[in-house]
Amino acid sequence: MMSSDCEATSLRDLLCGSINESHVGERLSVCGWVAKRREHGEHLAFLDIRDRSGVVQAVVEGLVDVKSEYVVRVTGTVTPRPEGTVNVKLPTGAVELSDCQVEVLSLADAPPFQLDDRVDIDEQVRLRYRYLDLRREAMQRNLRLRAVVNAALRRAMDAQGFCEVETPLLWAPTPEGAREFVVPSRLRPSEFYVLPQSPQIAKQLLMVGGFDRYYQIARCLRDEDLRADRQFEFTQLDLEASFVSQDDVLSFVSMAVLDAAEVATGVRPGFIERMTWAEALDLYGTDKPDLRFGMVLHDLSDVFESSEVKAFAAPTVKAMRVARGASFARSKLDELTELAKSLGAKGLAWFRVTPEGLDSPLAKFLSTTESAAISSVDGARVGDLVLVVADEYAPACRVLGALRVSLGSPPVGEGPHHYVWVTEFPMFDGVDDDGNLQAAHHPFTMPHPEDLALIETEPLKVRSQAYDLVLNGWELGSGSVRIHRADIQSRIFRALGISDDEAQSRFGFLLGAFRFGAPPHAGFAFGIDRLVAIFAGEENIREVIAFPKTQSGADLMTGAPKSITERQLRDLHLKFAPKGS
Ligand code: AMO
Repeated sequence: MMSSDCEATSLRDLLCGSINESHVGERLSVCGWVAKRREHGEHLAFLDIRDRSGVVQAVVEGLVDVKSEYVVRVTGTVTPRPEGTVNVKLPTGAVELSDCQVEVLSLADAPPFQLDDRVDIDEQVRLRYRYLDLRREAMQRNLRLRAVVNAALRRAMDAQGFCEVETPLLWAPTPEGAREFVVPSRLRPSEFYVLPQSPQIAKQLLMVGGFDRYYQIARCLRDEDLRADRQFEFTQLDLEASFVSQDDVLSFVSMAVLDAAEVATGVRPGFIERMTWAEALDLYGTDKPDLRFGMVLHDLSDVFESSEVKAFAAPTVKAMRVARGASFARSKLDELTELAKSLGAKGLAWFRVTPEGLDSPLAKFLSTTESAAISSVDGARVGDLVLVVADEYAPACRVLGALRVSLGSPPVGEGPHHYVWVTEFPMFDGVDDDGNLQAAHHPFTMPHPEDLALIETEPLKVRSQAYDLVLNGWELGSGSVRIHRADIQSRIFRALGISDDEAQSRFGFLLGAFRFGAPPHAGFAFGIDRLVAIFAGEENIREVIAFPKTQSGADLMTGAPKSITERQLRDLHLKFAPKGS
C-alpha cells in the first residue's frame, strides 16, 4: 500500500525522516544514503538510511553489499521496533523498515570524514569536500533556513508593492569604496567590466525609470579582506523607493526583517529601537551597538576638567563599569591595557572598587570628588572594576566601546536578538591623504536638511540622512535618502574633491539620467548572509553559504582562483608583466 506524500516520486514513497507509527503495516520505498551499517551476526544487517529529512532504520536479512554513503533505494514494511530497542532520540525511532529489499543506485568511496554533527571536523577538510559537508544535518538546516528567510523577504516586499528587478553583474564601477573585481572584455581590448559592489547605481536609475518600489535579492562582489562577517560574494536584500522619506524606508525594511525573524525563530520581535549615531557613539562607543547587555559609557570630562592627574589631562574622560571586574588578575588588566593601546589610546586607567575604597596605581592622585565620581560610575559596587580612557572625544569613546565589546559581548547568535536603527550618520568621516573629505556612506547621500548650510563651512558637522540597521553588534544593513537635486550633488562632489570631469567620467550616466526628471528617492540594503547566520546561531557567515571562500579567498573545492590557459589570456588580450616591473 502506498502512503500519499507530496515528497513522493517515481522512486520513493516518503522521506526517511517522516516515517512513523502511523505507517505501521505499509510497505514503502525510501531513497537516500547509507549513514551507518551495523551487523548482527552473519545474516542480519541494520542500515541507517539518510535523506534530507532525517534517518530511518532498515533491517536487512541475508547478504547485502552496501557501504557507508552508498546511494540506495530501500523497500520495506514499516514495523514497530521490538521492545527495548526504541530510540527516543530519533523521530523515526519507534519504527523500522523490515523485510527489506535494497537496490544500490550508486556506489561511494569511503568519505574522508564522518558526516556527523557531533564530530568536530577541520573546516579546511569540510570546505574541500563541501558537497559531503552539505549532507550534514547542520548545513542542511542552515541552508534551508536561508531559503525560508529569502521566501519571507520576498513575500514581505511583494506585499508592500515592491517589484523585483534583476540588475547586471557585468557593470561599471560603483561608488561604494571597496576594491572591485574586474572582468576583461574579449571584444573590446584593454577594457573591463566591473562586478557590482551593490546594485546602488542601477537601482537609482530604476527610480528615474519609474519603478518606484524596487527590490532584489542581489549578489554583490567586493574584493576586500575576508572576516567572519565578510565574503567576496554575498547577498543583499536591496531596495529603493521613490516619493518616500527615511521613515518610510525604515518601515519597509522593518516589516521585511521582522517577518523573516518570525519565520526563522518563531518569535516576532516587538519593535526596532532607534538611536542617533551621536548617541550610539556616546553611550556605546561604536556605530554598531550591541544592546544585549549594559556597560554604557559615562562621561566624566566635567569632573576631570581641571584635574591634577596627568593621565586625565584630555578633552574627554570616559568611564565604564565592569561588574565583578575587581577580581580580574593583573595579567588580564595588562591585556586590556594592551588592547586599548593597540586601538590608539595612550593608556587605560583601571580602578578596583573595594570596601577600603578605590584600588589602583592612580588612586592616590585622585581628589575626593574624582574618587567619588569613579566609585559611583553606573552604580558601581564593591567588587566592580571601573575602566577609564582619556583622549579626544571620538577616540575615547571608540576605545572604551571596543573594551566593552571584548568584555561583554556574547557570541553574535546567542541570547536575545536586539535590533536597533542607527540614524543621522555624519556626512563625512574624515579627510584622506590629499586633504579631501571622505564620504561616510556614498556620495549620493542626502545631507540632513538642517545642516545644508554647513557643507562648505563646517563639513565634519554635517549630518546625513543615512541610517544603519544593527543586530547584536553586527551591521546588518545601510541605506540613505539620496540626493536627487543637481545643485546639492555638485556641492557634495566639490566637498569630496571630485572634479566635474571626474564626476562625469565616474558617474556621468547617473548624473545624465538625473537631468531627465529624478524623483526624490531613498533606499536600503542588508546582508542576508549576516541575518541568517545570526538566526542560525553561527559566528561565521561561511556556515550559511553553500560554497564559501576561505579567509584567504580560496575555494578549496574547485581550486579557484586558478591560472587560465595561454589561449584564454590571448583572447582576453592579457599578458603578464614580468615580476618586479
Ligand atoms: P553597504 O555597503 O553598507 O551598503 O552594504 C550593505 C550590507 O551588505 C552587507 N555586506 C556584506 N556582507 C558580507 N560580506 C561582505 N563583504 C559585505 N559587505 C557588505 C552588510 C552591509 O550592512 N548600496 C548600499 C546600500 C544602500 O545605500 O542602499 C550598500 O551596499 O550586511
